[in-house]
Amino acid sequence: MGLSILGTGSYTPEHKLTNEDFTEFIETNDEWIRTRTGIRSRRVADGEPTWYMGAQAARAAIEAAGIDPTEIGLIIDTTITQDFCTPSTSCIIQRETGAVNAACFDLNAACSGFVYALDMAHRFLKTEPSARYALVLANEQLSRITNYEDRSSCILFGDGAAAAVVEYKADALYSSHLGADGTGAKFLFARTALPASPFIDAEKAAQKWDDFDEGIIGRYAHCMKQDGKEVYRFATQAMPKAAAAAAEKIGFDLQELDRIVPHQANIRIIETAMKNMKLPMEKAVVNIAEHGNTSSASIPIALDEAVRSGQIKRGDKICLVGFGAGLTYAAVIMEY
Ligand code: UT7
Repeated sequence: MGLSILGTGSYTPEHKLTNEDFTEFIETNDEWIRTRTGIRSRRVADGEPTWYMGAQAARAAIEAAGIDPTEIGLIIDTTITQDFCTPSTSCIIQRETGAVNAACFDLNAACSGFVYALDMAHRFLKTEPSARYALVLANEQLSRITNYEDRSSCILFGDGAAAAVVEYKADALYSSHLGADGTGAKFLFARTALPASPFIDAEKAAQKWDDFDEGIIGRYAHCMKQDGKEVYRFATQAMPKAAAAAAEKIGFDLQELDRIVPHQANIRIIETAMKNMKLPMEKAVVNIAEHGNTSSASIPIALDEAVRSGQIKRGDKICLVGFGAGLTYAAVIMEY
């Protein structure tokens, strides 16, 4: 019932935004950002599209896997910052990688996206005999939907992409748990197109937006808006809950894990979640200091870096676990 990760890859933009850089346009300081979030710097795109970052990561993963892209039967791309309403980013990734035999679609589960997509790929490969491999990737350009006048959120986010080539493996360790709580949707959201057609009465329309109308207008109207404390509270409970639920399905003891790859949103969230799971912090893969929060790309970037630096080795029992807007949460337990 398992899944094997054959190769991973990642890409982050050149441009580095340090904590110090923020002091030039908002009232903040390096010490506050470091101690409250664990972040020191993040990468931000300098004009490259989201799909470009995804394609770079996908090519690296295919190369690491050493497979022929024509044998990829499925591409799932996760993003909340796609370049186009249509076509899907995954179709562009297909064009860029030569994975001509793949079914392609995008998946939006916010920061839990990669874990959701991995589990969807597992289910697809298990039941579709013509598909040998799946390419699961996440590409995010949060700098596009970040309000750089909101000091409590803008310091958190960065851009990047990562990918994995996976194969179904009947006898491997595998379990998952996916969940959501839509009542928390209002705690973290970014609107798409604002009412702009000539047939709309803006005032009446605003009433129908209910919790989601925050009266934001102008340059940052489409940007992320969050209630940090509510998201924080949810996160510290949701990650342990997802991991425990996945473990319970197969009678697995979380203490047997070699490594946890959590969503990189805030070092304090990771520390509390690890404590709630009764796991030592040394088992967590952490790269938040250099990347900040890159939404669905955060878990696979951390995974790729851990694999390439030898922190995760073949045979290790790992858990990928995340939470995000929706509110969503997800965990996968597997062997690397
Ligand atoms: O992928 C999911 C994405 N979202 C998250 O994971 C967010 C989860 N939440 C968090 O990580 C934290 O709630 C934040 C990092 C967003 C905020 O940390 P906090 O410890 O909850 O701070 P706070 O909002 O309670 O603010 C404490 C103080 C406030 O000042 P007063 O009212 O006590 O005078 C803020 O105005 O810190 C102030 N503050 C800042 N000060 C310097 C808020 N942002 C900043 C800043 N620099 N950037």
